[in-house]
Amino acid sequence: MPKIIPVATFDCVVFGATGDLTLRKLLPALYYRFRDGQMPADSRIIAAARSNLTDDSYRERASKALREHVAREDLDADVAGRFCRQLCYVRLDATDPGGDWQTLKDVLDPDRVRVFYLATSPDLYGRICRNLGEHELVSEQSRVVLEKPIGHDLASAREINDEVGAVFSEAQTFRIDHYLGKETVQNLLALRFANTIFERLWNADVIDHVQITVAETVGVEERGGYYDHSGALRDMVQNHMLQLLCLIAMDPPVSLEADRVRDEKLKVLRALRPFEPHEALTLTVRGQYMHGAIDGKPVPGYIADLNGPENSATETFLALKADVRTWRWANVPFYLRTGKRLPQKVSEIVIQYRALPFSIFPADAAEWTPNKLIIRLQPEEGMRLAMMTKDPGPGGLRLSPTALDIRFEKTFGMRFPDAYERLLMDTVRGNATLFMRRDEVEAAWAWVEPILEAWGSRPDTPRPYSAGTWGPTAAIALIERDGRTWHEEVV
Ligand code: BG6
Repeated sequence: MPKIIPVATFDCVVFGATGDLTLRKLLPALYYRFRDGQMPADSRIIAAARSNLTDDSYRERASKALREHVAREDLDADVAGRFCRQLCYVRLDATDPGGDWQTLKDVLDPDRVRVFYLATSPDLYGRICRNLGEHELVSEQSRVVLEKPIGHDLASAREINDEVGAVFSEAQTFRIDHYLGKETVQNLLALRFANTIFERLWNADVIDHVQITVAETVGVEERGGYYDHSGALRDMVQNHMLQLLCLIAMDPPVSLEADRVRDEKLKVLRALRPFEPHEALTLTVRGQYMHGAIDGKPVPGYIADLNGPENSATETFLALKADVRTWRWANVPFYLRTGKRLPQKVSEIVIQYRALPFSIFPADAAEWTPNKLIIRLQPEEGMRLAMMTKDPGPGGLRLSPTALDIRFEKTFGMRFPDAYERLLMDTVRGNATLFMRRDEVEAAWAWVEPILEAWGSRPDTPRPYSAGTWGPTAAIALIERDGRTWHEEVV
């Protein structure tokens, strides 16, 4: 177990404290950090929401949430009891300037790091920040944490950023993209910049193309109301997938300092070639799931999941081909694919190397598989490098693909922390390396917007696909017409 360095004692105010994100993700993440001794025992989590609750009744909710969302073997009743005593509840409508801000102010310690976590709908961010400012709750040691989505297009993102920026400086603003908190995503930095062998082989000379897949088996569950106004492009591509693309495509930053890493990511976002209107239709494939089966069990289609409207043009699947216009990546396409109700929950990045320029082996020696580096974000986090090796034995020179294989959990023999654990502690430490800067969010929207506009100007709707399949067949055609295929299994 690596040595754990406790963070400074802090007060964390969570707005939206009775919501799903807080109960499912934030409290369990803080419990683990408390259990492992990283969250100092005198730190406090101040839950703020509109419901009429007391400290005790909120603690009961929190304790239930821990029972539901912390692995049974990790939940220690005594630790959970002590953790819940660090929680207190303030009843407050955070959008109301006349709300009970004084009670909140009285609870806060003026000398501590203060984290305001906005686990609310993004359209409330501006109002909450304004109230925090007007009621003088923002100290020098304060930070604000914003969840995605920051806006639904470039203009609304700018508006939110302006409103938040009127109260919090950019250095105090932590825009979470939880994918950046995933262990394997951080390992991308280690892979690329802590090893000499890869950086030399990280460009168009040797790489044929890159694939990024984020597939989920779940449907829209109870989030249909949000999702139907969002869709896969806004929900997954504008943020998580473009952030992954940035970490793969960026040049080495001069240091790990937040702004040096973010400068490099921004360069990639600005180098993405904007789609012409006709390309937004030919280089993207939208899909929407119909009923089907996942793991042999029947599941309803998207419209039935929405439980209301009779039709919808929202995409639950998206595949696209992007182009990063730099010397490093000239003519190396990045194929992105994400969707709900696909056959497997899997997030992975595939770096496909070029085929051998010339083979000295007999034509029948092997079925050639060009080298491939597969970076698996979830499940079974790890990295595999597909290589050609000789089959053992004296029966002639035959070659087969084999993998150099690292499975992180097996290698390190420890639980992999949830992304929120790392990110929450980073906000207390004031380390913004794994958070999105304003200009990154806006550059990502600027790239996405022409696609949204082109889709909006056409009457056609997403292509149907059966739940439990890899999306519409057009997504296969998107890559196959370039003579390539989606990666399906390891070597
Ligand atoms: C969220 C999206 O940001 O990420 C969800 O809003 C999606 O729609 C989720 O299900 C996926 O996250 P993870 O960590 O389960 O891959």
